[in-house]
Amino acid sequence: MKTKLHYLDHAATTPVLPEVAEAMGKVLREDFGNPSSLHAAGRRAKELVEDAREQVAAGVGARPDEIVFTGGGTEADNLALKGAAGKLRGNADHMVVSAFEHHAVLDAAHWLGTQGVEVSHVPVGGDGLVDPAAVASFVRPSTMLVSVMAVNNEVGTIQPISEIASAVRAVNPRTLVHTDAVQALGNLPVDLHRWEVDLAAFAAHKVGGPKGVGALFVRSGVALEATAHGGGQERGLRSGTLNVAGIVGFGLAAQSAAKEVHEKAERVGVMRDRLLDGLRAEIPDLVVNGTLGSRIPGNLSISIPGTEGETLLLLLDQAGIACSSGSACASGAIDPSHVLSAMGLPQKLARGSVRFSLGRASTDEDVDAVLAVLPGIVARARRAA
Ligand SMILES: Cc1ncc(COP(=O)(O)O)c(C=O)c1O
Repeated sequence: MKTKLHYLDHAATTPVLPEVAEAMGKVLREDFGNPSSLHAAGRRAKELVEDAREQVAAGVGARPDEIVFTGGGTEADNLALKGAAGKLRGNADHMVVSAFEHHAVLDAAHWLGTQGVEVSHVPVGGDGLVDPAAVASFVRPSTMLVSVMAVNNEVGTIQPISEIASAVRAVNPRTLVHTDAVQALGNLPVDLHRWEVDLAAFAAHKVGGPKGVGALFVRSGVALEATAHGGGQERGLRSGTLNVAGIVGFGLAAQSAAKEVHEKAERVGVMRDRLLDGLRAEIPDLVVNGTLGSRIPGNLSISIPGTEGETLLLLLDQAGIACSSGSACASGAIDPSHVLSAMGLPQKLARGSVRFSLGRASTDEDVDAVLAVLPGIVARARRAA
């Protein structure tokens, strides 16, 4: 008999919403035109793309002409950092990123470091929060860009983005502020003009849309250098024939994520709290990674002393529960995540971390399933450790 899947890994990706799959299927079957073509089929495809651009813009508090479609969150982050550096190098040669950014930002910054850009890493508090004053203390006249994520993907902590943007501007009004908002959309209201950021990255697959589609918000008046050259699509910033079906899916998913954000937060928050209370009753020494005070409702990242996260993950998987561990197996050795390390969690504790991320499709049954098996799994994992 097939075990029922309890999917608690929404921060990794989300199930595609039925209406999104339906709309994308229709585009693939019927609206195959190239949006750059001038004939009726092309014009129809272009219309679909522009409708989706409006939906995404409305969902994030931006204007449609500030949305550049990309091939996902990673590409959007790369375009923000490399595009800013391409435009501003010569006048500015310094960049600031937080120490627990996603690798899409960290590795793009690292690469820019090999090209002569000086990169500073702002430390993160043990609570998983980045202090605006700490960010500002790194900014200098030559700082071209600051990048701090809106929500951390592993511990779910919400960063004070508008305070960070104002603190940066107070030191250097020319410094661009980028935020990786991939984990923010659908988990908290996103209002980019109020946040006063210049650039923001999004990915469709985190909000019930398809993989391989994302967007970079580029505030009106901000100039970037393209990272892909060719047909000049997306105002020359992202050449390449547009993924029309994917973009249509993203538009619908973004619209629905923004509409349901409050209702989802309430429902998911209750489930997450019940999960935590139940686990604490059975595993009293578990540690919640990062503050619960400023965190998206669906995230529960915990460390369980005396265990390896990978072992917990595999045993949970055998029980039909999908979640994620904070550690990554690189070349045979299990390394604790850079996020937990940046937060100063002792290595031993960081190695025993698991992340449950609840989403729109999560149910009380999913929570019950974890509560039923995790205490026994922890006992086994402790014996194995
Ligand atoms: C915070 C954050 N940034 C960037 C990405 C990368 O997005 P994508 O998978 O669309 O390339 C992810 C996805 O894992 C993420 O969680």
